[in-house]
Amino acid sequence: MIVLGIESSCDDSAAAVLRDGGLAASVVSSQHAVHGPYGGVVPELASREHVRNLLAVVDAALVQAGTTLDDVDGIAVTRGPGLVGSLLVGLSVAKGIALRRGLPLVGVHHLEGHLLAANLDRPVDDAVRFPFLGLVVSGGHSGLYLGRAPGDYACLGRTRDDAVGEAFDKIAKVLGLGYPGGPAIDRLARTGSPTAIRFPRARLKRGRFDLSFSGFKTAVWQWVRDNRPTEADLPDVAASVQEALVDMLVDATGEALDATGVERLIVCGGVSANRRLRERMAAMGAERGVEVIVPRPILCTDNAAMIAVAGASRLAAGHDDGLDVDADASLPFGVPFVVGAPERGH
Ligand code: KG4
Ligand code: ZN
Repeated sequence: MIVLGIESSCDDSAAAVLRDGGLAASVVSSQHAVHGPYGGVVPELASREHVRNLLAVVDAALVQAGTTLDDVDGIAVTRGPGLVGSLLVGLSVAKGIALRRGLPLVGVHHLEGHLLAANLDRPVDDAVRFPFLGLVVSGGHSGLYLGRAPGDYACLGRTRDDAVGEAFDKIAKVLGLGYPGGPAIDRLARTGSPTAIRFPRARLKRGRFDLSFSGFKTAVWQWVRDNRPTEADLPDVAASVQEALVDMLVDATGEALDATGVERLIVCGGVSANRRLRERMAAMGAERGVEVIVPRPILCTDNAAMIAVAGASRLAAGHDDGLDVDADASLPFGVPFVVGAPERGH
């Protein structure tokens, strides 16, 4: 079975081809050069860039996979959440192809895509088993989810304000590091000391898994205003900021593992490309005897392969959402999680 995946929820135009569950092609056209001068994504510009790029990106993915639309069996496209204008471009392209070719079309939740991206690194018959805990950390999302079964997810907690990637990006902007800020902070932090500056960590109540990063962002902004770091100070500032953000994520995830009792953890989303986060999560998992699964960095940031892999099982089972499937900028994910009902992994 050949699945065409399309993703355009934010500022990357992406298409991918999955052949019998294996990744045959993945193309991502980044808009960083367009949004960089503004220090963040400008929604209207993002939609226009998708209009300009997406068909060429789909063609490039088909060529890379050595196939054509004649051989495609189904289409998986991101439905939400995301920027509504951007989502609409991807859905329109997907619907146009589905209509013209008479192909089934399934709408995929962007966060399920991030979680299941982990399967692209594994043989088809060795998909990550349920139940698992998933930490999704990106520019638009920060949340902890319990995957119970395919399509059955519970939300343990989410950020109450900014996403952690947004905190990386805004702090990088204050430090004059450009956009996107996460990779810039990650790079600088390699030569800095994580204990040079003790930034405050937002404290969570035990048994609650919501996250918060906006107070931290303000604390760093105030520190920069009061201390006026020079270029030579930046590696220490970056390493200390990164350590604080990673501490908050590792603490919340550790408590969520204890509360659920599951034995597998997936860390995904753009921020999981962060080297320090990967190291610290691996160490935390090893301490608890939990398997920690983090996709390759290229599969952590937005891509269409994750959308294709998340939609493939529904397409294989004969589902077709048809042309009525709509974009939903704030599509919810997972039922609320009730503390006190531990679920052991097998
Ligand atoms: O998943 P993604 O590509 O797009 C969204 O769905 O948001 O995530 C993008 C976010 C940006 O905030 C970017 O700064 C962050 O991921 N990011 C990183 C790293 N690479 C990307 N943050 C920290 N360290 C990194 N190495
Ligand atoms: Zn994403």
